Amino acid sequence: MNRKIVVAGNWKMNLLYPDAVKLASALSKQVSSSRSMEVIICPSLPYVTPILEQLRQDNRDISVGAQDCHTETSGAYTGEISAEMLASCWVKYVILGHSERRAQFGENEELLRDKIQAALSAGLKVIYCVGETLEQRDSDSAFEVVKGQLLGGLKALDVTKFEHITLAYEPVWAIGTGKTATPEQAQDMHAEIRNLIANKYTQEIADGTSILYGGSVKPHNAEVLFGQADVDGGLVGGASLKVDDFLAIINASG
Ligand code: PGA
Repeated sequence: MNRKIVVAGNWKMNLLYPDAVKLASALSKQVSSSRSMEVIICPSLPYVTPILEQLRQDNRDISVGAQDCHTETSGAYTGEISAEMLASCWVKYVILGHSERRAQFGENEELLRDKIQAALSAGLKVIYCVGETLEQRDSDSAFEVVKGQLLGGLKALDVTKFEHITLAYEPVWAIGTGKTATPEQAQDMHAEIRNLIANKYTQEIADGTSILYGGSVKPHNAEVLFGQADVDGGLVGGASLKVDDFLAIINASG
């Protein structure tokens, strides 16, 4: 299957500057992306430029992503960062629709649609996250919820832009909890997601889209999760903050 394996580290609001650079530097000495596999780190914004500089010096092909962006290109939006600004700092990816932003900052599909458009217009690639809560899973509405998030967020997306989208299925109940979806649960949802993309766009687009699993991915469960037919890598939170754990997860994807 002609799609990329992607392992992305979402550092969230963690690490002070020296530790962030140290982590990036340690990773850069041991990791290198390839044609079929891409490693991405998403640090806090103040660290992006020095980390990119470090990676450039080490001549390493690890991509750098941001954890959010604004819908507008510039203007009176105190505290916000535009996709264009990120692109001007050589940021390659932006995570959008993470459940923490949906839950804590009230981000909905309408807003995310605009953020996705803004990111793509600026030339960024998007990791678009979807996932249900435990309540929704228990009430058998996980698929409907994920479908709504997926088709809602991607509604206005031009088919030609799809190659710049990576999807991440992150069941909310598995994020930072140590509870992981079983490989079967992950595979089932990933297959449904791919099906939705095939129905809305084309089978070719669906087959070419990387769908990452996220939610307590650790060295001990990465291999079996990534071994599922429709799981094309992971979006990793806590374990991406530890060099050895993140390396083990990257190695499990190969
Ligand atoms: P976790 O976070 O790996 O710590 O569960 C994943 C995420 O929020 O992307």
